[in-house]
Amino acid sequence: MQIFRDVPSLRAGIAALRAAGGRIAMVPTMGALHAGHMALIADAARRAEHVVVSIFVNPTQFGPNEDLDAYPRREAQDGAMLEAAGVAALWVPGVDAMYPEGFASKIHVTGVSDGLEGAWRPGHFDGVATVVAKLFGQVRPDIACFGEKDYQQLAVIRQMVRDLDLGIRIVGVPTMRDTDGLALSSRNAYLQPAERAKAVALPETLVIAGEGINAGEDVPAVLAWSTRYLLDSGFDSVDYVALCDAQSMAPMTRLDRPARLLIAARIGGTRLIDNLAINP
Ligand code: PAJ
Repeated sequence: MQIFRDVPSLRAGIAALRAAGGRIAMVPTMGALHAGHMALIADAARRAEHVVVSIFVNPTQFGPNEDLDAYPRREAQDGAMLEAAGVAALWVPGVDAMYPEGFASKIHVTGVSDGLEGAWRPGHFDGVATVVAKLFGQVRPDIACFGEKDYQQLAVIRQMVRDLDLGIRIVGVPTMRDTDGLALSSRNAYLQPAERAKAVALPETLVIAGEGINAGEDVPAVLAWSTRYLLDSGFDSVDYVALCDAQSMAPMTRLDRPARLLIAARIGGTRLIDNLAINP
């Protein structure tokens, strides 16, 4: 596996992969890799001859009071995992390589990025869309894999790629979960053992509420029940519980088209998100 740390050497490395022939699939990450990331990489490897992974803890997608400094960084361990997975190239730019002096552009995807995470984390999706557009420009992959774990992010990227004619096939990969159902996340590392035990209420809520909505129960009532259940189960606060259109992310009060049930809730100092497909 080749490791690149600056744009000129990355470009040369990508040109060599192109010269060898075949497709390039990219998996953008912020590192601290777990089995969820590795599922994306396995999917990418099934779809393309060459897999390129990026690791960049992108400062512009963190709010001023968020966990940028605390975000786990484990480059040596990540590198070993990627090497073992047969990844062709690892792109690990520094902040200066991504945002040199004078950097002035920003991508804002309207509509799909406005609610949910976009409302609770102002500027977050501008940071995500801008860095992903930049990563796409640097690597120019044929395919890029993103997790359904961050469902709204996936919807924002799909919209951006469509709007800007980037010509990259975006693949959504199902969420990898721990044995008790908790979605794998680099942020789970923040949970104390007692908090980790309570966190299982998040996927439980999605499953129970999803069954209720599928059974025809009143959607606003199910959403209100979900918030109470999370608080009763030991969550300290609930940012949102919402049923949204699976593509536009517009809120829904009736299950009349493919939807996604999405939750963000906090336990101790840790903010967790998860979601589930709900189809009529
Ligand atoms: P990060 O949180 O490192 O996630 C990288 C990719 O892994 C994302 O597409 C995310 O949805 C996916 N992922 C995380 N946990 C997963 C799980 N349990 N199952 C399946 N996929 C999972 O998301 C980001 O980084 C950043 O916002 C990024 C896109 C790299 C832009 O900075």
